[in-house]
Amino acid sequence: MEKKTLIDEAQQFLTHLYKELGKTTEQFAHRWREVEHSIELNGYYEHTYEELVYGARVAWRNSNRCIGRLFWNQLKVIDGRQASTYDEIFQYLFEHIRIATNNGKIKPLITIFRPELNGKKQVTVWNHQLLRYAGYETEGGIVGDSDSIAFTRFCQQLGWKGNGTAFDMLPLVVQIGDEAPEYREIPEDMIMEIPIKHEEHDIFGDREIKWYAVPIISDMRLEIGGINYVAAPFNGWYMGTEIGARNLADESRYNLLPTVAKQLGLNTKHQRSLWKDEALVALNQAVLDSYKKYGVTIVDHHTAAEQFRVFEQKEESDGRHVTGKWSWLVPPMAPATTHMYFKPYDNALVTPNYFYQKMKYPDVQKNT
Ligand code: ARG
Repeated sequence: MEKKTLIDEAQQFLTHLYKELGKTTEQFAHRWREVEHSIELNGYYEHTYEELVYGARVAWRNSNRCIGRLFWNQLKVIDGRQASTYDEIFQYLFEHIRIATNNGKIKPLITIFRPELNGKKQVTVWNHQLLRYAGYETEGGIVGDSDSIAFTRFCQQLGWKGNGTAFDMLPLVVQIGDEAPEYREIPEDMIMEIPIKHEEHDIFGDREIKWYAVPIISDMRLEIGGINYVAAPFNGWYMGTEIGARNLADESRYNLLPTVAKQLGLNTKHQRSLWKDEALVALNQAVLDSYKKYGVTIVDHHTAAEQFRVFEQKEESDGRHVTGKWSWLVPPMAPATTHMYFKPYDNALVTPNYFYQKMKYPDVQKNT
């Protein structure tokens, strides 16, 4: 980023922060002199912990695809910028999993590692989510999560070997600068998983289905005041449909609707029997009930929609314009039962925010 742009971005961010947090113009002027000086001198500046927290929270508030934004202000922030060795970084990642899981009472959390420096990554987390199941292409078809096929291959090239089940937990893969990436298995006692069962029906037959407790997105870039935090894993808790109507249901993922329909004895010969719809409901009830039974935080899509409505009202009464992406805010089940269905949303981009980044796995040199 050019010095000029960085100065503009930093100024815009700090102006907003100082205003929103009710600080004095003297406080702002003082901090601004410091930041401007640092950029002029070094080409970058360092956020204070307070700025980091505010930036990460507002980035969540600005996330147009997220229905869970009512809780933006409760995001906990771990400053991992000091971590510089593989041991330290892996330790922070394991701690993130432990603290966020919190024995099932999920805590929204972000761990922020060193940002990009002169356009180069100092730390890369190669995982899409810290907890994720492997996917394998076999002669008999795909085993596990098809979403993970490329990353699983990358892990195998690094020397990792999975058990070949449909639910193998992938290792964490980290890279410092342009050193060779390293992988570590997540200690088993840190991983919370929930066996999915329907209270009344045996919907999976002899298949054991489970999912992990916490979705920790680890491949997005957090941009705050012109600084790019390219390694900044964050999590909230699950909304049931993410698992029950997508991960376990999508034909291209775990594709469980035919199994559930068969177990329920539904008429799958005709689409018009709505067997998919009925199977979806059973599968999603099973997800919500199972998480509840194991004491793991989860929200159903009706409650989440109500919470989003409260978020919209709060934002407006605080004088802020709510941006959003309709196709993501509307849940994949019973969309027209939520207020979002009937409302247009402005998908304008506001920073700070979380962005997708292209992840191209490096070629791994095999020393044989
Ligand atoms: N949809 C993704 C998944 O199923 C997780 C995305 C983040 N979700 C969340 N509730 N914070 O794994």
